[in-house]
Amino acid sequence: MGTKKRIVVIGAGMSGLTAIKACKEGNLEVVCYERSGELGGLWRYHENNNDSLPSVMKNTLSNTSKEMSAFSDFPPPNEFPTYLHHTLVLKYLEMYAEHFDLLGSISYFHEVIEVIPSEDYGTTGRWLVKVRNLRSDETREEVFDGVMVCVGHHGHPYIPTYANLDLFTGKTLHSAEYKSSTGMENQRVLVIGAGNSGCDIATELSTVAQKVYLSTRRGAWIYPRLFEKGKPLDIYLSRRYKMLLPASYEAKKLEKTLDKTMDHKRFGMKPYHAVTSQHPTINDEIQYKLLSGSIIPKRDVKEFSQNGVLFDGDEEITIVDVVIFSTGFNIKFPFLTDDILRVGKNNKILLYKNMFPPQLKYHTLALITLIQPNGSLFPVAELQSRYFVALMIEKCHLPSTEKMLAYVRKTEGFRARNYVQSARHSLEAPWIQYLDDLAGEFGVKPKMASLLVKDPKLFWACLHGPFLPYQFRLNGPHKWNGARDAILTYKNRMYQHLRNGQEK
Ligand SMILES: Cc1cc2nc3c(=O)[nH]c(=O)nc-3n(C[C@H](O)[C@H](O)[C@H](O)COP(=O)(O)OP(=O)(O)OC[C@H]3O[C@@H](n4cnc5c(N)ncnc54)[C@H](O)[C@@H]3O)c2cc1C
Ligand SMILES: NC(=O)c1ccc[n+]([C@@H]2O[C@H](COP(=O)([O-])OP(=O)(O)OC[C@H]3O[C@@H](n4cnc5c(N)ncnc54)[C@H](OP(=O)(O)O)[C@@H]3O)[C@@H](O)[C@H]2O)c1
Repeated sequence: MGTKKRIVVIGAGMSGLTAIKACKEGNLEVVCYERSGELGGLWRYHENNNDSLPSVMKNTLSNTSKEMSAFSDFPPPNEFPTYLHHTLVLKYLEMYAEHFDLLGSISYFHEVIEVIPSEDYGTTGRWLVKVRNLRSDETREEVFDGVMVCVGHHGHPYIPTYANLDLFTGKTLHSAEYKSSTGMENQRVLVIGAGNSGCDIATELSTVAQKVYLSTRRGAWIYPRLFEKGKPLDIYLSRRYKMLLPASYEAKKLEKTLDKTMDHKRFGMKPYHAVTSQHPTINDEIQYKLLSGSIIPKRDVKEFSQNGVLFDGDEEITIVDVVIFSTGFNIKFPFLTDDILRVGKNNKILLYKNMFPPQLKYHTLALITLIQPNGSLFPVAELQSRYFVALMIEKCHLPSTEKMLAYVRKTEGFRARNYVQSARHSLEAPWIQYLDDLAGEFGVKPKMASLLVKDPKLFWACLHGPFLPYQFRLNGPHKWNGARDAILTYKNRMYQHLRNGQEK
């Protein structure tokens, strides 16, 4: 028997945990380096602003429901609510790590500072990894057969350039630095950007600030968390059968549904682009805030002045005390050189299946969760990790470089045709199609034809019901005997916390 392959996982956030789990499942030797002293990544809330350790805000509530954000063989506890406060997301991650015995693989306070091809990369595909022990400041080098990069992509704030911003004497900060409304009482605040950060911050501030302006350069479609009868939006929308319907029909139907909660045109938010051309902005309160004047919608900022801003279309300066740039993030991997991974203008990165730099001779380095899907990142991280491990243990293979490059061109063409061209969408991917595609590569996509014959009830649940992550444990390597039951009983877990002692 040959020796086990050694894998390094960089980062012990949500995706790092799925990577360790997949390595252990594949019987690989795994070491995870985490620069902070704890697991959980940005789900571990930090009171203090610390650029190198991004975290959620004090009141962040997940915008993907617990069942759709489940790991495929570890349903969240019944008593957890449908949408989790960030403290419960962290708790779920801790429970997962403990249950699957992942903790022993993590070395805390170790920062990976460089990953380069090893001397024998040309024949082995191995990597030389430089790691700094942040306590002793010692640096060491190790060689690994595979590298899983799990460092997230919300750590490097992006602030656009504006005319006369240097003249502005008020306070400016990026959404990554905003933790709560404390200190913003009675201020006139401008929030720029109507992504999830911008809308969360604007709605929260509207309860304490004197005025809140929300500036967008193209408006935004806003999804509520709750759809018909209070169904979570992802439970309602993300269903396999919808993939069989014409996309333009589905988009129009969705626009009409969203307009029922808030007429986007009347409320000053209607964009020119179709609803499916934008990453979902999910917010339940903004319609009331707009209607009650607690948030004032504004167009793009034309220029700053000493005490305020001039918005496009306005003739007068609007006076503001604070500006919060909720304008997204730059993507950076300080430990990788450009010839391994190049991040272009507007965060453009050319990767095969959002994971592999196609130009490399060996595909023994993968980016996990370098993707922005219209669904939860949790099952994506898990499936990417399982796919990488399946490749490392040669249970499946990647196509030729030419085919990978052709795939990359196709993906870029798809993005150019389907999404608004901005940094926000450089990693955008359709959630269901992406997951099914990846699962198909290593034999864990549900076998729908066989289900139809052998288990019609489950077939119907997988086709017509929500696209639950447990589907990817029904067959193939490391299937889980509890998957069928988990799919058929998701409603019990989803609504259990509302039962208030009632039996059913
Ligand atoms: C405010 C906010 C809310 C979100 N809400 C949702 C949601 O509801 N649902 C959803 O699916 N997604 C959500 N997301 C997306 C979110 O990014 C993912 O859910 C998930 O947290 C990504 O996990 P990750 O492990 O890839 O990255 P992170 O959580 O960022 O973890 C990366 C880890 O890598 C470590 N690290 C970084 N560099 C190094 C290095 N050089 N060496 C060693 N360690 C390193 C970091 O310390 C960190 O622990 C949200 C994002 C934000 C910003
Ligand atoms: N509650 C939650 O679960 C929650 C909360 C916050 C964040 N998140 C997640 O965290 C991630 C990051 O979200 P985010 O909102 O911080 O970033 P984001 O999704 O990248 O959104 C950035 C916003 O800034 C705008 N913008 C960028 N450059 C601009 C410019 N030059 N001028 C004007 N506007 C500009 C973008 O507009 P364009 O569209 O025009 O580019 C977009 O509206 C996402 O995955 C999000 O879902 C989740």
